Amino acid sequence: MQLLLSVAVLGFVAQGALGIITEITNNVSGTTKCLDVKGGVLANGTPVQIYDCNASNAQDWVFARPGPTSLRIWNSTYCLDAGSTPGNGVGMKIWECFDNLPAQTWFYTDDNRIALYNQGLCLDLTDGDSTNGNQIQTWQCTDGNKNQEWIQVNLR
Ligand SMILES: *[C@@H]1O[C@H](CO)[C@@H](O)[C@H](O)[C@H]1NC(C)=O
Ligand SMILES: *[C@@H]1O[C@H](CO)[C@@H](O)[C@H](O)[C@H]1NC(C)=O
Ligand SMILES: *[C@@H]1O[C@H](CO)[C@@H](O)[C@H](O)[C@H]1NC(C)=O
Repeated sequence: MQLLLSVAVLGFVAQGALGIITEITNNVSGTTKCLDVKGGVLANGTPVQIYDCNASNAQDWVFARPGPTSLRIWNSTYCLDAGSTPGNGVGMKIWECFDNLPAQTWFYTDDNRIALYNQGLCLDLTDGDSTNGNQIQTWQCTDGNKNQEWIQVNLR
């Protein structure tokens, strides 16, 4: 019993520290599209958008499900960031990662929503429009809202 417990705790710590490299996808239009850093530009303020999945680094996120955790671009120090005044309609961007910053702390719910931890705001496909280049926003978390359904596709 003691041994089993230790193994479980170690497993949790390892996963929490490293996370899984994953695409984050939305299928509201019937086509699976990816959460993407615009133009692959790793810099403070680059918008995060929906885009065809294309296996570029701009779509490889490190995410320790369920969290609370950051959503970091693989092999970078840039994280998904909800801005200084998170709210409905605020456009998502990347920013340098800071430990435990509320605007960069996310939680993956059992029904596949990605919520800003303890703030009632969810990652939301703006206007349900999956046209390439549409910037992602946060919006009040709403049950069953397909604009807020994000499926992890683990890469490695
Ligand atoms: C995406 O939606 C389409 C249409 O509803 C469905 O046929 C397809 O299986 C879905 N794909 C995934 C990966 O869920
Ligand atoms: C992948 O998508 C990004 C959009 O962020 C684009 O800038 C890049 O050119 C695309 N890469 C390929 C190989 O299509
Ligand atoms: C990681 O990023 C650095 C530069 O930031 C780059 O030189 C290196 O090739 C990248 N590693 C991989 C495996 O892509």
